[in-house]
Amino acid sequence: MQAPIELISAATIAARVAELGKQIDQQLPPGPVTVVGVLRGAFVFMADLVRVIPRTMTCDFLGVRSYGDATVSSGVVEITSDLGTSITDRHVLLVEDIADTGLTLKYLMDVLTARGPASLHTCALLSKPSRRAIAVTVDFVGFEIPDEFVVGYGLDAGQLYRNLPYIGVPKL
Ligand code: IMP
Ligand code: MG
Repeated sequence: MQAPIELISAATIAARVAELGKQIDQQLPPGPVTVVGVLRGAFVFMADLVRVIPRTMTCDFLGVRSYGDATVSSGVVEITSDLGTSITDRHVLLVEDIADTGLTLKYLMDVLTARGPASLHTCALLSKPSRRAIAVTVDFVGFEIPDEFVVGYGLDAGQLYRNLPYIGVPKL
């Protein structure tokens, strides 16, 4: 298997994640936070992000399937595993690996909003603004990238490459 071509290095990611943590801590309302990670893509990013947010927090996860193993969004989002805790009256930070068409994020925001959180903010490591199919607010974005399929740092192609420490473009 050939190594993907590096687009964003591990050091650049680490520096940006530290900045995001500070911004999030400054901008979220005071008080404890529930950080909700979207599985599986966000698990690496979230592990680094929560360690640079100096707040009282709980962590929970939503299992989601949006693409199957295809690389094109079907627009159909399926919750494969729900939160283990209530988010009613909690300040919630939803953490995604990437906002591509925005359909997944929009769907999950609607689902979480219906549960009555005290506040809901969204954070995505990556965003492809040129791919957006629906208007969705991403409060904190790590990097805006062009319309290229990327892997690594949690992101997969056919479930592979999630363990890559950098973000890269797989060679065909
Ligand atoms: P959206 O609903 O189109 O915004 O897609 C969101 C999901 O698609 C993400 O959570 C990823 O799992 C997947 N995805 C979108 N673009 C990429 C990519 O470039 N690489 C890997 N996965 C991606
Ligand atoms: Mg995926």
